[in-house]
This record gives sequence, structure tokens and C-alpha cells, in this order.
Amino acid sequence: MARNVVFSGIQPTGGIHIGNYFGAIKQWVTGQDDAENIFCLVDMHALTVPQDPAALRAQILETATVLLAAGIDPAKSRLFVQSDVREHGELTWYLSCVGSMGQLNRMTQFKEKSESQKGEVRVGLFTYPLLMAADILLYKTTHVPVGEDQKQHIELTRDLAQRFNATYGEVFVLPEPAIPKAGARIMGLDDPTVKMSKSAPGSYHAVRVLDSPDQIKKTVMSAQTDSGRDIRVDPARPGVTNLLAIYCAATGATPEEAEAHFASARGYGDLKKELVEILVETLRPLRERNAELSADPSTVRDILRRSAEAITPIARETVDAAKRAMGVGSG
Ligand code: TYM
Repeated sequence: MARNVVFSGIQPTGGIHIGNYFGAIKQWVTGQDDAENIFCLVDMHALTVPQDPAALRAQILETATVLLAAGIDPAKSRLFVQSDVREHGELTWYLSCVGSMGQLNRMTQFKEKSESQKGEVRVGLFTYPLLMAADILLYKTTHVPVGEDQKQHIELTRDLAQRFNATYGEVFVLPEPAIPKAGARIMGLDDPTVKMSKSAPGSYHAVRVLDSPDQIKKTVMSAQTDSGRDIRVDPARPGVTNLLAIYCAATGATPEEAEAHFASARGYGDLKKELVEILVETLRPLRERNAELSADPSTVRDILRRSAEAITPIARETVDAAKRAMGVGSG
């Protein structure tokens, strides 16, 4: 039986947080034995909003180091930088001649991100989902482990693949999103009504995976909650619901088990204190391994380069098949 192909990506824009970790990275790490795995630092996606070149260059290496420290194993998975495999840009063009403006206009992430851009909105921000579709389709991906915010982009990817296959013949495999039961949408700790994000201002918005125990404590203890005391999942109380979601994502408990565990707690303080301990212990190995790996950037660069080399033939084959099907090229 053909093995599953897992593909996923992350923007190398610094400050990886527990939303990224529980929504995506943890699944990447735990699923490594079950499939072919390809993980991508999507530096071309990062360019859809203004970036400082020197900072971006540094963050690509830092993000790669964090992913290896989190447990991505180069013996089992490929970890590479998007712009190192030029087929990503190439296939994006062909997909832009298949997808419609209407499809892209419906993307909620574009609406949100374009509103937060003070200056002009770049064309790349609008066509971003086409590049993401190219990432996925190039490697005949069967599963895409992501947080909930990426689901719509994967549905678009499926639509594009279907439309292409129906028009030009079977070239693309239709991917499935793999969204975790717990941690698919972690909210901001300073404001549980907005999604935890890398770019949100405020030092108590997110727990970052490299935060010190002291920083984790400060952020979690200052998390916004309401004036109640019951530790229950309740949409009317997003603060405590978010803390329970983080607890479940970190421990593997179900929401019912988490509620039962905290049934005799004296208030939100007890939940927060326990969560601090759990997050500190969950992230400790990652932080320690990251410190070791950071001392050896040439090994990390080597992994990125060798991964890109290994997967380029797969990407090339897909683009050539798409070109043949569309009737372009000298033949
Ligand atoms: P990015 O860099 O914003 O996020 C990386 C991963 O983290 C997940 N995530 C979250 N999960 C739970 N709660 C949160 N608050 C939270 N914030 C982020 C995201 O869902 C994602 O899985 N467009 C993608 C990158 C990408 C990609 C791809 C992903 C480019 N090409 C191909 C999969 C396949 C993005 O910007 O992720």
C-alpha cells in the first residue's frame, strides 16, 4: 500500500508560540513514523507582508533550529526552505491560471490580514493561498497537519486540484486536512477573543516555546479570565475555556477529564498554577535542545540543503506533469 505523504509549513517569522506547537508542530513530531514527512519553512509566504531582510534571514535558521529541537528528526522527515525549491513559484503560476478571483476573495485570512496592513496590500497577500496550494500539491500530499485557521486554505487546495484534474486530466492528489482534537485554535492569553498569533503586540499575549520558566509563569498567571470560579468549558467564558484547551492539548486529557480534574479547585489560580508547571515541563526539553543546536548552525543549514536536494525531483516531476497536461513547453 502506498504510504501517506504528510506536508506542512510554518512562516519563519520568529516567536513560535504554543498555538503553533499544539496546533501543528506536535502532530508533525508524533506522526513521523507513520508517513513520508515533508516540512517547509515558508519564507516566500513571509514576504507577503513587509520584512527586514537581515531579520528574515536569521529567523529562517532560528525557526529551523526550533523545529529540530521540538523533535523533527532528519532521519525520518525532510525539513527545507520553500524558496530553495523553485518549483513552488513555478506551480503557483499555473494554479493562478486555474483558480478564480472569486475563490480567493472568499478567504477569511486575506480579509483579516489585509485589514491589518496599514500601507498598501501586496498582490502576494491575495495570491498567498495559491502558493500554499502549490506547496501541498507538488509532493502528492495526502495529509496536511495544521491548526484550524488553515482549513479554508486546504479546502481551496482541494478545489483547485479537482478543477485542474477535471480540466486537464489526473495530475494532482487531493489532500486531507489533519486538525488536532485539542489545541486547534489557541486564543490570546491577554485577550481570549482573538487567536494567538506571532505578530500580536503585548508581552503577555502568547507563551513562546523558547520562553524561560519565569516568562511562562508571568504570562499564564496574568491571563485574562472572568470573575467566576468554576473551571468549566463555557463559550460565555472564553478565558477559562482557553486555559482548559491548553491544558487538554498539553496533557491529552479530554475536556470532561479536565473539568473533573479541577472540580475541587479553589478558583482560576489553581488552574493557572498547574498550567504553568505543565507548560514549563512540556517545553523544557525543546528549550534545552534548542540551546545545543543553536551552537551548531552549519549542521542545521546542512539539513535544510540536503532536504531541498532530496525532494526537488518529486516537485520537478509534478510540475512537468502539470505542464504537459496544460499543453505548455517545447515538449
Ligand atoms: P503559520 O506560520 O501562521 O502557522 C503555523 C502552524 O501553526 C498553526 N497555528 C495555530 N494553531 C492553533 N492555535 C493558534 N493560535 C495557531 N496559530 C497558528 C497554523 O494553523 C499552522 O498549522 N499558511 C501557513 C503556512 C503554510 C502551510 C503551507 C501550511 C504555507 N504553506 C502548506 C500547511 C501546508 C501559515 O501561515 O502558518
